[in-house]
Amino acid sequence: MATRASDMETMTGTSSIFDPQLYRRVRRPTLAAEGLPPWCYTSQAFYDREVERIFRTEWNFVGRADEIAKPGDFKVFDLVGESVIVLRDQAGGLRAFANTCRHRGTRLLDGTGNCKSIACPYHAWVYALDGRLIASLGMEATLDFDAAEHGLLPVRLEGETLADYLGDLPKRFAAYNFADMVCVRRKEYDLACNWKLYVENAMEDYHTPTVHRKSIGLQQTALEEGGSGAWDAIFMPAPQTIAVLPEDSASALPPIGGLSGKPASGTFFTVIYPCTFFATTQDCMWWLQEFPLGPGRTKVSVGSCFPRATVARPDFAEKVQKYYRRWDTSLPEDNAISERQQAGLASRFARPGRLSVHEPAVHRIANWVLDRVLDPVLDSAAPR
Ligand code: FES
Ligand SMILES: [Fe+2]
Repeated sequence: MATRASDMETMTGTSSIFDPQLYRRVRRPTLAAEGLPPWCYTSQAFYDREVERIFRTEWNFVGRADEIAKPGDFKVFDLVGESVIVLRDQAGGLRAFANTCRHRGTRLLDGTGNCKSIACPYHAWVYALDGRLIASLGMEATLDFDAAEHGLLPVRLEGETLADYLGDLPKRFAAYNFADMVCVRRKEYDLACNWKLYVENAMEDYHTPTVHRKSIGLQQTALEEGGSGAWDAIFMPAPQTIAVLPEDSASALPPIGGLSGKPASGTFFTVIYPCTFFATTQDCMWWLQEFPLGPGRTKVSVGSCFPRATVARPDFAEKVQKYYRRWDTSLPEDNAISERQQAGLASRFARPGRLSVHEPAVHRIANWVLDRVLDPVLDSAAPR
């Protein structure tokens, strides 16, 4: 049996941090379990394993299709050191390509924009929006050079597998009619914390009375809300939107048309694994997308979406300020506490902690990660 002292040795590299024995307490039921050991949030080796087995393997949220509405619209998506061009082609279809020139590898595009074709800034090879290499001046004398073999490398975008991955999520959240929503504001934060800390924070209400006591204040306890597919949710009953601060509730915007049952009577906090979070309340939704940059660094992109009819109201521009005020207050509170947690976890004295009844989703996130990062344990290799 490993002792805590030997767990500490593991942190300093004297044995494998991927030994499933080190995580046996995380595998217990929530109220008997411990959280992930601190090194899961600080170790480069653990992070590298997550990149390989989670971020380069699972589906990642790129954005909303309305961001690239017209033919030629593109968006460059950078995640864990890979760069992908996502674009709308001439026929209106969505495509994704590795952002690397087939000549000598130069990065092709940055940011967002509109283009008729993709020209490499180095030797001016040109690719059509469907990825075909359509110009490569200077290559005429090259032996056996067939332009047809040097198109951009496609990257998988959506498809059947994604539907399987999401399970019943699209059905369960159909009432919110996300396709009819408009993203009215985006914001980015660069945080000194591990990506898992930020997801965990978004998926528990235990911290609300302390971290948000001056802003959101007391909220009701959230309830479990699962489904099939790679997502997890908690539901917090509340008679009206929680997307404005309590003192601004009189200036809330109208609810989303046609909501009934649970969506009309509270807020869902949902994570699509690995790290896309969204909250849906009576009148709007907001999402947090995380871009892990290293074990202790994460870029977070936040978007706010309202129904088209709400955005068209003459009082929208004025009233939405209250919503921005709420997010610009509560998100920095979560950001600061997550960075503070990361700082504490970096201590060599940090230990795995026990979990409360308010943290079942934190426990499930830990196990979801371990299921992918650790090698499967064979029966014959069971407890030592
Ligand atoms: S590297 Fe792109 S054209 Fe040479
Ligand atoms: Fe929070």
